Amino acid sequence: MSSSRKDDHIRLALLQKEKANRFDDIVLESTDLPDFGVNDVNLKSSYLGYEISYPIYINAMTGGSEKAHQINEFLSKLASHFNIPMVTGSQSIALKDSNFEDSFKVTRLNHKGILVGNINPNYQLEDAKRAITMIDANALSIHLNLVQELVMPEGDRDFTKWSENIKSIVNGLDKPVVVKQVGMGLSQKTINKLKTLGVKNIDVAGSGGTNFLEIETKRGKDDYSYLEDFSLDTADILIQLKNEKDLNIYASGGIRNPLDVIKSLVLGAKAVGMSKFFLNLYKLDYEEAVEIINKFIYDLKKIMVILGVKEIADLNKVKYKIK
Ligand code: FNR
Repeated sequence: MSSSRKDDHIRLALLQKEKANRFDDIVLESTDLPDFGVNDVNLKSSYLGYEISYPIYINAMTGGSEKAHQINEFLSKLASHFNIPMVTGSQSIALKDSNFEDSFKVTRLNHKGILVGNINPNYQLEDAKRAITMIDANALSIHLNLVQELVMPEGDRDFTKWSENIKSIVNGLDKPVVVKQVGMGLSQKTINKLKTLGVKNIDVAGSGGTNFLEIETKRGKDDYSYLEDFSLDTADILIQLKNEKDLNIYASGGIRNPLDVIKSLVLGAKAVGMSKFFLNLYKLDYEEAVEIINKFIYDLKKIMVILGVKEIADLNKVKYKIK
């Protein structure tokens, strides 16, 4: 992927407006008698087996251009400040040309906590190891973006090796691997296949937030927005996976506010990723961004009080209705 395409993605993602999504149809049962206060709430959670202070993480976005370098620098400082995980953008560009490595390495310079690399499934085990070493990552994410590839004029057309590569990476790495989508959601068919490949962690990365079909349509000359038919909303996928026992489920895609985070946790996610939300912060001063995240975290606690739940692990007992 070229540097200019990376910058297009950032510019066009920032232009997308927040919209209604299926989280709006989930209504959680509240209480006026929680019998505890905001300061009694404990937000400690886990992500890919690592303990984290809050149930949120900065999800995959960028790397590989000057602007991407600045964004990664800004976001990794925030990740460090709050002790939350950060997933880098696709390292593909740096695996092909080491001149681009610094825009990824900057994340590790700033953030000593949980850092997750990111590749596409065209790469084999040896490249996956290189991606991890490049940033001294604690884990690796592999993104599945089949529809996005197919709508890009310069995108991939041959997916013969994807499953085989995922299997060898999952079985050959000594670090956790999470497989994610990029905002169109992992289907049940994909998830069933991933399980047979040995995958234990998925990030559903559904629709309702950043929309790559719209972004690619704006970049190219063809309008492929009708393929949105294949988009699966994050909340719907989580509901479908409610009884899943063999996978650790992480949620992302269209998470707009603290209530969407809590709803995801109620629906069975162990932690919740946000991309666009954090990208928006890049437009602000660092101190302002810190203040916004502090408020976000405090609001997570307030919502836990409204639900009468002190611990993240107990959120999945909360009753809910679907409108
Ligand atoms: C992304 N996303 C992404 N995902 C990935 O696995 N590798 C990548 O390189 C990128 N690149 C990227 C660039 C930009 C600018 C954005 C906004 C997003 C997808 C991202 O991780 C996430 O799945 C979607 O953005 C949906 O989440 P939000 O934005 O609705 O919170």
